[in-house]
Amino acid sequence: MLRGKTVLVGITGGIAAYKAAILVSKLRDAGAQVVVVMTHNATQFITPLTLQTLSGHSVYVDMFPPTTGEVAEHISLGQKADVLVIAPATANIIGKVAAGIADDMLSTTIMAAQGQVIFAPAMHAQMYQNPIVQEKIARLKELGYHFVGPVEGKLARREVGMGRLAEIEDIVDKVVQVIGGEK
Ligand SMILES: Cc1cc2nc3c(=O)[nH]c(=O)nc-3n(C[C@H](O)[C@H](O)[C@H](O)COP(=O)(O)O)c2cc1C
Repeated sequence: MLRGKTVLVGITGGIAAYKAAILVSKLRDAGAQVVVVMTHNATQFITPLTLQTLSGHSVYVDMFPPTTGEVAEHISLGQKADVLVIAPATANIIGKVAAGIADDMLSTTIMAAQGQVIFAPAMHAQMYQNPIVQEKIARLKELGYHFVGPVEGKLARREVGMGRLAEIEDIVDKVVQVIGGEK
């Protein structure tokens, strides 16, 4: 389904970050080349080593790695990817992208991306319902960014509400849909 396609998976610092390991694995099963960019906060939840092993590529976290003599990575990564999927997407990354902030490797890569961008938000229900978060999501949708989920279900701390990461299969389906040019 995704043979010959490059998918950039952006991982941010939410409790659902561990599920990104399964997403990377499923995207590779579907034939995609997967490159992972994580925020520093995401590394509190899942290690770059896990993602490096599952993706088969180096994982990008730092904005300023040792220079390689190539084009700045935040530009080339965004240009190489057919689609970027940010899963889980924190309230923070949604707010930053909507506000035009590019202050780390992931937000800068999103800003420089040529491909389509999909956000899979995951957060506490109260955070998700915050009018500021809702406004930023609406703004990003208006600008052509795609969203999958969140869904209602069990959240961290065993509460139930709206804010759970979409099922991994649904995120993969969304990637396939967006790559195929569907809305
Ligand atoms: C245990 C824990 C779980 C968290 N889970 C979430 C979450 O699911 N969604 C969210 O938006 N923020 C969550 N946060 C807050 C983010 O980590 C925080 O907003 C951080 O600045 C996000 O940074 P990033 O977007 O650069 O990764 C959590 C924080 C902690 C300590």
